[in-house]
Amino acid sequence: MQEIRLALVGFGNVAQGFTQILAEHEEEYARKFDLRFLIVAIADPVRGSLLDPDGVDLGALLQASSQPGGINSLPGEHPDWDALQMIQSAPADALVELSFTNLTTGEPATTYLTEALRRNMNVITTNKGPIALHYDQLAALARLQDLHIGVEGTVMSGTPVLRVGRRLLSNAGIERIQGILNGTTNFILTQMETGQSYTQALQQAQAMGYAEADPAGDVEGFDAAAKVAILARLVLGENLPLAQIERTGITAITLEQVQAAAAAGNRWKLIGSLSYENGKFKGRVRPECLPISHPLAQVSGATNAICYSTHLLGDVTIIGPGAGRLQTGYAVLQDLIAFYCPECIG
Ligand code: HSE
Repeated sequence: MQEIRLALVGFGNVAQGFTQILAEHEEEYARKFDLRFLIVAIADPVRGSLLDPDGVDLGALLQASSQPGGINSLPGEHPDWDALQMIQSAPADALVELSFTNLTTGEPATTYLTEALRRNMNVITTNKGPIALHYDQLAALARLQDLHIGVEGTVMSGTPVLRVGRRLLSNAGIERIQGILNGTTNFILTQMETGQSYTQALQQAQAMGYAEADPAGDVEGFDAAAKVAILARLVLGENLPLAQIERTGITAITLEQVQAAAAAGNRWKLIGSLSYENGKFKGRVRPECLPISHPLAQVSGATNAICYSTHLLGDVTIIGPGAGRLQTGYAVLQDLIAFYCPECIG
């Protein structure tokens, strides 16, 4: 049985979802993959830090994370670490980086990932900032050290659009990618169809936890643009800087426009796309009024979808969650299995 020691930066929703998956399926993964995942270190700016080289008890960890005092209420060692100190000290094989997203600099996550790679850890992140902005430099460092980078959760959480696009469609000739890549905006547009105001719908999306801490990232299209940049780099092998992605959000779409479109059998959707134009791929995020027969027009609420238009297969559409505690935790798990049991994942 191979034991994989994990260090976690951040113990918020996604980390808790991932821990819950491990706690509930520990024996199954040991049996199926001959792998046991141990959480040996955590650094979270609010919930505290932890060091347990034998692997913390996952049930106790989950319980402690919801108690006052957080992780620091657990028995064991609680070094006074920040994330960087934890990475420099943790006896871990892989870093799971789940700190906040910064689409301007990619920091501090890029520094955490770089430091972990330098210290010979494989890395996984669900954080769009470092991957949209600095994937090439991180991938070069990983190659140099013969390490892996897992980024499945950066686009559509655990719905496996990156893995399918990169691996399973790489010989099908992808000519265009179109997607509903942001759940908050799709939820708002869906609610507006029922007569709810933009402001009410945004408040509901925030209350339900879909929206980013600063929802401007969602409604102005920055979040979707970061995902377009990641798809360009990872699926198409194209380096498309975020600043070169044409971007319009949904803030100018009115209730009247949404309802008029619905009455005419159409739907407004915020579409992120990559299309081949004048000899190169062009990246865009903009509201599009799609006929109801379009596969992406059928996708409502916070659900996401991606349509790969390919030369050999025609259109391949994948619909699924784009966010969520367990859903994004599942992306982390799949990346780990891909690192440590590649034959198990295809
Ligand atoms: N705020 C994002 C969304 C979360 O609404 O889709 C997932 O990236």
